[in-house]
Amino acid sequence: MRRQGGCARRAVALLALIAAAGVASADDASYLAPAELANASGAEIYSHVCQGCHMPEAQGAAAAGHYPRLAGDPLLSSWQFVAVTVVRGRSGMPAFGRQGFEPLAFLSARLDDAEIARVINYVRSHFGNHYKETVTAADVAKIPHPGAAADR
Ligand code: HEC
Repeated sequence: MRRQGGCARRAVALLALIAAAGVASADDASYLAPAELANASGAEIYSHVCQGCHMPEAQGAAAAGHYPRLAGDPLLSSWQFVAVTVVRGRSGMPAFGRQGFEPLAFLSARLDDAEIARVINYVRSHFGNHYKETVTAADVAKIPHPGAAADR
């Protein structure tokens, strides 16, 4: 009986831990629910979705992996390059434009075309980047999206 009591106490302690972790992750700056993303500006999408890897000033990082700097990155001169990278992913970078069924959807945000357009316009006009043209959701829609019927 005593053993069982101990077990139950441990289970309660474990549940409390899980609950505390749940609260912490809901408050975590990196987490935004899809409905919140829909209203988020390019800057907000950057800070919630991209900054974890590319760093707050887009200076990039080399730690467990290599995360390229987006600040003053000449490759950003091509919006198509940025759009293909964000929609389809690239090496260690998730495909944010993926569509359809996804067993591992919780691992990274999924962005719709308007959200992708906003974050592209943001990174191409901040961090020492001064590209003027504005990318629209319709532009992003032309990039083949992984998992979309047309991409299979
Ligand atoms: C999980 C980490 C991670 C997240 C989150 C992430 N990226 Fe990346 N990103 C990478 C890695 C790694 C690469 C380099 C891929 C390669 O080796 O070609 C990269 C490459 C890029 C590139 C190409 C830059 C270059 O010089 O090659 C762009 C542009 C880019 N990311 C933009 C974004 C944007 C915008 C977001 C947010 C919507 C974002 N990334 C979120 C990891 C990430």
